[in-house]
Amino acid sequence: IPPPSLFYPNFPTGQQVPLRTKNESWKFPKDFWYGVAGAAYQIEGAVKAEGRGPSIWDVLTHRVTNYVSTNDTGDVADNNYYQYKEDIARIAALGLKTYSFSLSWSRILPFGSGAINELALKHYDDVIDTCLAFNIIPMVTLYHWDLPLSLQNTYGGWLNEQIISDFSTYTRIAFSRWHKKVHYWFTVNEPIVFCNFYPLPESYFKKTSIPEQQQPYVCGHNVLLAHSGAYHIGKSLNSTLSISFKNNGGYKIPLTNSTVDAEAVQRAWDFNEGWFADPIFLTGDYPSSLKPYVEKFLPPFTEEQKAQINGTSDIFAHDAYTASFYMAPDSGIEACLRNQTHELWPGCFNSTNVYANGYWNIGPAGDPGSPWLNQATDWVPAFLHYMQETWNPREGVAITEFGMSEPFEELKTNLASILIDPIRSNYYKAYLEGILIAISEGVSVVGTLAWSIYDNLEWSQGFSVKFGIQYVNLTTQERYFKASAFEYVNMFKTYQEK
Ligand code: NOJ
Repeated sequence: IPPPSLFYPNFPTGQQVPLRTKNESWKFPKDFWYGVAGAAYQIEGAVKAEGRGPSIWDVLTHRVTNYVSTNDTGDVADNNYYQYKEDIARIAALGLKTYSFSLSWSRILPFGSGAINELALKHYDDVIDTCLAFNIIPMVTLYHWDLPLSLQNTYGGWLNEQIISDFSTYTRIAFSRWHKKVHYWFTVNEPIVFCNFYPLPESYFKKTSIPEQQQPYVCGHNVLLAHSGAYHIGKSLNSTLSISFKNNGGYKIPLTNSTVDAEAVQRAWDFNEGWFADPIFLTGDYPSSLKPYVEKFLPPFTEEQKAQINGTSDIFAHDAYTASFYMAPDSGIEACLRNQTHELWPGCFNSTNVYANGYWNIGPAGDPGSPWLNQATDWVPAFLHYMQETWNPREGVAITEFGMSEPFEELKTNLASILIDPIRSNYYKAYLEGILIAISEGVSVVGTLAWSIYDNLEWSQGFSVKFGIQYVNLTTQERYFKASAFEYVNMFKTYQEK
């Protein structure tokens, strides 16, 4: 495959990304890695190929009316199951160092447990070997939301502790097969999000007796045990592996300087990031501020379990897209977690996106009219300091997803204009400048992964929300670099130590 052209058209007048003067004191360390990420169900397609079993997402996309606003499915998606060689070649041609992808559990074990599908193992063998052949570091996520349907319907999936041993079996297969070729592993992707898929829409899945509002927290409990079990399995096979938990959340800024808003911010850190990060990085147990709320219905971790959980992430791998203002809950903290609702932490705090122009159109500078913060340089360094100083990871902090969808990008029809994405370009530049500032202040940031390798199935928003640094024509399956792909790489060309 010939390397793609590194040329892209100049931005039209009025849309230029501002040129910034190079700051000579900023440096990405030599071994800093940078790449792109994707996930199996969002990009692979080939859902019935080579023995893949169904996952809950095949049901959510195909059977549950309006679960996906656009009625899109992952049946074909970006056809990555067949075009991965070209995809990896393009990553290499761009000059990126890493490719982060997830394994489809229900390809490897079509029923979630039991029979192993050798064709799936062969497929991922080749994905990994292709990365290595192109000198791209493969990074593997074991679980990115596509739970084998059979596990949900036999026993309730993440709501049942049986998942812990099934996840162990699955991860042991993956670690055993690839621990000599893959150094970086992520166990689970964003449990704050996938545990909040529970309760799953009734009548399509097996019923459970666990009250609806408690389900996300029961899921989280089993996730902590499953994740830590997998960590120890990986390390027992090869103690030099870097195995991490992939957490998520944005930077939190108090809306006012009132005490109640400051408390709301702290509660939000504890209840969101801290829900998983405190057990894994600090104590083996939930944050003390969270315990009174969840211990009413969660079994406490035994001392043995705490010891098993504590210390099980090498990197603080964080998916961090944006910043939000936080404020005190409307009716006082007494209402926190009282009501049955489908939101996490109902009544515990309120928040609003700093970038006021829509759900995923998240600046920085995405909204030049914002009266508040315009640049990621305003909050990214503070965020990175907070992560390092609060959770003190032994192998540093990595931003394992960041990115944005441009306002109205989905309405563009003309190829040339699709490929010009100044707001996303500026987002990556400003965010990476924020990282450079943090590094210069002593934060150990070790890598970044742009979300995403290309536009893909954005879960319940289908293909309508686009995060790619490449555009994919879903009819022809041709890939094209957007300008932001070059802007992203150029930041490392400019600032990485040789
Ligand atoms: C989080 C998820 O890991 C990924 O699957 C999703 O597409 C992006 N963020 C954007 O929402």
